[in-house]
Amino acid sequence: MKPEDILRIFEKRHSCRAFSDEPVPVKSIGIICQAGLMAPCAMGKHASHLFVFKRGEDDYNTLIQLSKDDNGRNPFYSAPVIILECLDKTSVHMTRDGAAVIENILLAASMLDLGACWIHAPSVIFGNNPKLLKRIGIPTDYVVVGGISLGNKPDHKGQLRIK
Ligand SMILES: Cc1cc2nc3c(=O)[nH]c(=O)nc-3n(C[C@H](O)[C@H](O)[C@H](O)COP(=O)(O)O)c2cc1C
Repeated sequence: MKPEDILRIFEKRHSCRAFSDEPVPVKSIGIICQAGLMAPCAMGKHASHLFVFKRGEDDYNTLIQLSKDDNGRNPFYSAPVIILECLDKTSVHMTRDGAAVIENILLAASMLDLGACWIHAPSVIFGNNPKLLKRIGIPTDYVVVGGISLGNKPDHKGQLRIK
């Protein structure tokens, strides 16, 4: 890959807030999560954990239901895949650790020509609320620090193929 191709991945990373119904290949989701967990972390604690919610699954429906605002608006823009990032209590800089992981995820999505958007709402709604965390299958001592909406862009013309 040429240096200008690498820069292009950064340049074309933009928040995507509309998604097609086309499913995201499991392999792409795996690569994106791996990229996220390769982010730097304060004092090498590696305290981030990623939870993937896919449309059609019970936990996805519960996540959407608990996240809707008073007007019934879904903060995830109806993305077919939602990733929640959580930190365990060993993290010494939760928000910074969290941000590094999310940025890696957004860049990996850009590399794969997928649409993605950083979503703040889950950190406010779920945070470290054990009752709500339990309802979406996340360990009750974790802290949600952010979310990512992920899917194919509406105008997508074929993802980078992963073999
Ligand atoms: C900490 C943080 C929280 C964000 N939360 C949201 C959000 O809740 N909803 C949303 O649509 N975009 C959110 N964004 C995306 C920003 O609005 C977006 O990155 C910014 O407007 C620049 O646009 P770009 O991503 O297309 O370059 C967030 C970005 C950051 C860094």
